[in-house]
Amino acid sequence: MNKNRITILVVTIFTLGAIILMTGSTFTENHLQIKCGALPLETSEISTAKPILSAKLAKNSLKLSWTKVENADEYKIYRSKKRNGKYKKIAEVTADTLNFSDKDYKGKRKTYYYKIKAVSRSGSSIEHIYSNTIKKTVYKHKSKVHGVTYIDGILIVNKTYKLPKDYNPGTNSEAYKAFKKMQSDAYKDKINLFIASGFRSYSYQKNLYNRYKSTDGKDKADTYSARAGHSEHQTGLAFDINNPNSSFDNTKESKWLAKNCTKYGFIIRYQKSKEKITGYKYESWHIRYLGKKLAKKVTKSGKCLEEYLGITSKYKQR
Ligand code: DAL
Ligand code: ZN
Repeated sequence: MNKNRITILVVTIFTLGAIILMTGSTFTENHLQIKCGALPLETSEISTAKPILSAKLAKNSLKLSWTKVENADEYKIYRSKKRNGKYKKIAEVTADTLNFSDKDYKGKRKTYYYKIKAVSRSGSSIEHIYSNTIKKTVYKHKSKVHGVTYIDGILIVNKTYKLPKDYNPGTNSEAYKAFKKMQSDAYKDKINLFIASGFRSYSYQKNLYNRYKSTDGKDKADTYSARAGHSEHQTGLAFDINNPNSSFDNTKESKWLAKNCTKYGFIIRYQKSKEKITGYKYESWHIRYLGKKLAKKVTKSGKCLEEYLGITSKYKQR
């Protein structure tokens, strides 16, 4: 009997002990969970560790990098043209990414402001903290080689930038090869493309422009024909396809060209919506060779070349 009582007592003590222990640990667990859900820890940690942002200019992009924020789940990157202006979100990256290359800046001389937001999520709460704001001034690299202007390595000719009289390179062989490839692929789609006008020398352009000027007057001629030294045709990188006038618009050939020329490294240089910026009326037939990579970038940006490079197209003299 006594033995039995002792056994019962021991079992009871063990059971109670186990219950107390289990309750304790459950409580501890619950307690921790509650703490996590309410985010007291995360909030205080994230607010003490601001990401420190820095920037440097790489070849074709502005490279941002920042310090890690413990507990951040993602970073959002913002850019503005004024320190206290409207900041536009330009990217979102995961917590393990601590840099971002901004390729979408432009201008001969433009100032940008950036900041990063570290975001921490837990349950329904979201906490965030901003980095320092940094200012970066971007200068486009403009160079002149034998009187020819290059902006970030891209040869540019328009109403602002002129070519020398004796710049006489002939048809650019790389551009011509790209055209031939495009022509043969178009042919497979039953589209016939040919070059109606390619390289034009300074003196050829001079005669052409003067002829238009004498029939249409200077103001009108300036809307569709380049003055001598200002034509892209003088670079050997531009071609007029099939029929260089508005009757080419909306033909199956012009639609094919607009849809496909980028793949071969060309852009439709004078777009309908950009007449004020390029300085010329829409030319569905005039393509400019930029190389595949750049042509794709420019087309994707939806900008004309002037906008893309942050430059103007305006004659010095009326
Ligand atoms: N038609 C283009 C603008 C030129 O004359 O070069
Ligand atoms: Zn042309």
